[in-house]
Formats: sequence, C-alpha cells, structure tokens
Amino acid sequence: MSVVKIHDREFVKSISREEIAAQVKRVAEMINMDYAGKRPLLLGVLNGCFMFLSDLMKELEIECEVSFVKLSSYQGSETTGTVNQVMGLNESIDGRDVIIVEDIVDTGLTMHKMLQTLAESKPASLAIASLFLKPARLRVPVEVKYSAFEIPDRFIVGYGLDYDGLGRNLPDVYDVKE
Ligand code: IMP
Repeated sequence: MSVVKIHDREFVKSISREEIAAQVKRVAEMINMDYAGKRPLLLGVLNGCFMFLSDLMKELEIECEVSFVKLSSYQGSETTGTVNQVMGLNESIDGRDVIIVEDIVDTGLTMHKMLQTLAESKPASLAIASLFLKPARLRVPVEVKYSAFEIPDRFIVGYGLDYDGLGRNLPDVYDVKE
C-alpha cells in the first residue's frame, strides 16, 4: 500500500519497515557501546514512542529498564503560553542514566521542557533517542544524541506516529501528500 487516506488527507509511503529496522538497529548498537557496564532507564514519551521503544529495546544487549511518561499540555498564563507537564514518573531517577525515547523532535519545545524538568531530579546523565528529527524546524537548542532519521520539514505518519489519532498502526512511514 503506497498511498493511504487518513481523515481528510492522503499520505504516500516514504520509509519502509526494513529501512526503519536498520536504523533502529544502528541506534541500538550505539547505545550498547555507550552504556556498556551501565543500566540505563529508557523513559518512553507516550503515545508516539511505543513502537520505536519496543523495537529499540529488543536490540539492546546491555542491562536496561523501561518506564513511560506522558506530557499533558495545558494553557499557562498569557506570557508562558502552552505548558507541558511531565506525568507518570513514579520512580526516582536520582543518579540514574536516563535515555528519553521520543517519536519525533520537531520544534524541540517538548524535549527542551522535558530535559529541564527531569534535570531537577538529578539523574547521572540524560540523553535523547528520537526516531525522527526535523533539524530545519528546531526553535530551541536541543541535543538529540541518538536520532534514527533526520528528515525535512514534512508531516509524517506511521510506526507509532499519528495524524489526529489515526495511522499509528502503519508498519511503514508515510509523508503527507501536498
Ligand atoms: P515538538 O515539541 O515541536 O518537538 O513536538 C514534538 C511532538 O509533536 C511529537 O512528539 C509528535 O507528537 C508531534 N509531531 C511533530 N511532528 C510530527 C509529524 O510529522 N507527525 C506526527 N506527529 C508529529
């Protein structure tokens, strides 16, 4: 299926499941090397991370743990605008090596806020692993240590990413048809 319709838009297949698997393996190999002898906590950001995190974790050979957080956004004051709150972090990350696992870093605002919030809990280290990164869209400096794909400014769905709730189940990734 190279074209799918989701809600009102058409999407064209752009990245195959085989290409995704190869890049996920590459990222896992880097993490296996960088965290040898450590026991990182993979902190998945729901909902988009679930497929990536599952496949990434299966390729890790080091000891590792997993947990999930969700970001709730609410309207802050006029000056702060929309504020994201990290919800669901029940265990202490004090002294832990934490790898945040995200589906896509777009403007970087979500990860910027998340790094600030988690840093307050004094982890030993904090790194980001994101399946996709749109470098042209970054509005704040965010270091994405592990990114499987750098992509142009385009809207994508599939492999965990959605368009208004749908499309997460697609095993390949699709670009919106302009
Ligand atoms: P940021 O704060 O702008 O970096 O936004 C990151 C979040 O926006 C991701 O976790 C996704 O939920 C969503 N997002 C950004 N770009 C896309 C896209 O192309 N497809 C689907 N979701 C996206």
